[in-house]
Amino acid sequence: MPSKWTLDALKPGTSAEAIFWPNPVEDSGYRWRATHLDERRTPKVVLSDDERIVPGVPCVVKVKQVTKPEREDRGIILVEWVGAGTFKIEGVYLDPVVSKKLQVALECGLNILLDGPQGCGKTVLARSIAESLGMRFVFFNCGAVVEASDFLATIQVRASESGSPVTDFIKTEVLESIEEANEHPERRYLVFLDELNRCQETARNALMPALDSTRRVFHPIENRFLTIPPNVQFIAAVNRGRAFSATFGIDAAQLDRFVPLQMTYLPPPEEEALLARRHEGLAKSTIAHVVAVADAIRRAPDLGGTLSVRATDEACIFLRHRLFSNNLRTDLPEVLRSSFCGRFSGRWDDVSTDAGAVWAVVTRTLAERKLPVD
Ligand SMILES: Nc1ncnc2c1ncn2[C@@H]1O[C@H](COP(=O)(O)OP(=O)(O)O)[C@@H](O)[C@H]1O
Ligand SMILES: [Mg+2]
Repeated sequence: MPSKWTLDALKPGTSAEAIFWPNPVEDSGYRWRATHLDERRTPKVVLSDDERIVPGVPCVVKVKQVTKPEREDRGIILVEWVGAGTFKIEGVYLDPVVSKKLQVALECGLNILLDGPQGCGKTVLARSIAESLGMRFVFFNCGAVVEASDFLATIQVRASESGSPVTDFIKTEVLESIEEANEHPERRYLVFLDELNRCQETARNALMPALDSTRRVFHPIENRFLTIPPNVQFIAAVNRGRAFSATFGIDAAQLDRFVPLQMTYLPPPEEEALLARRHEGLAKSTIAHVVAVADAIRRAPDLGGTLSVRATDEACIFLRHRLFSNNLRTDLPEVLRSSFCGRFSGRWDDVSTDAGAVWAVVTRTLAERKLPVD
């Protein structure tokens, strides 16, 4: 943990990064409050009333004045706004251009559509955004949605005491969080709509007023319209497999409600670094072989699918296990045969199938890396 600031170091003119939230002391005259500068705790609260401050979004500020420096329990650090801060998300690699656009969209409260192949980090990114911005994360899998009302409630039929069937509506987490957000304007919610392209078109249409300026949905239990307050932000994800790269079945009008952000797999050195952090003790050179093969498969033309980071992660789990960590020459092909070829249709030893084509890429890449498969 970084140490706490001393007052001496916070002389007027010092600039640092801060994340502000609404000041809970309402009559203080300052709308915004922060408790940290450059991620280090400050000895007094940091206050500002600048209207350019967006709650939860990092910005750079300059110390204007520290009041009551002699008192530990009193006084404030008054700062002025200098500019936008940098946006970093712990543990997730994000392309710098995507990162900039993401920051703008979040600052402006625009809906975001993460578009990328399976296992490129969409879910992990959404979850980490919520964590690093202090938002409550609401995960919703659209793949299970059949009817419009499924976004907000599920129906359960049970037997009543007399034995006749009764229908109960159970609120989904999405509905619960919209209700909660109305009651708690100081909390922020990030609703993640995973696999938005997998749900029925008609169901998706019913969600659209939630995502445009109308910002309301029909409450299926209370039969009334429910406003979606500004402290609810939506991020959706679509899996665009390479087999369907032309379209993902979301029509233009629906797409228009989002800022689309294209994601792709991490660059190989970043994927190696990620796997090295997760699999301490596994040789860096082994990780490099795994990533090089995955990269070659992802680039190979004419395959009906692609390879997620889950696959490289799984290969590393096997390779560091004592049952496998003896002989790289035999273990590596063995593991990649199941962890990589096994994710494609067909069989590794049948060249007419995708799995066989993947096996050809595996053997070629390993041979290039001086690890020929016998
Ligand atoms: N860019 C990335 N940064 C960090 N981890 C990643 C990244 N891409 C993939 N991963 C890892 O790969 C796995 C799958 O990621 P996930 O977010 O579930 O993918 P998606 O939602 O795109 O299918 C997770 O274990 C995640 O930690
Ligand atoms: Mg996902």
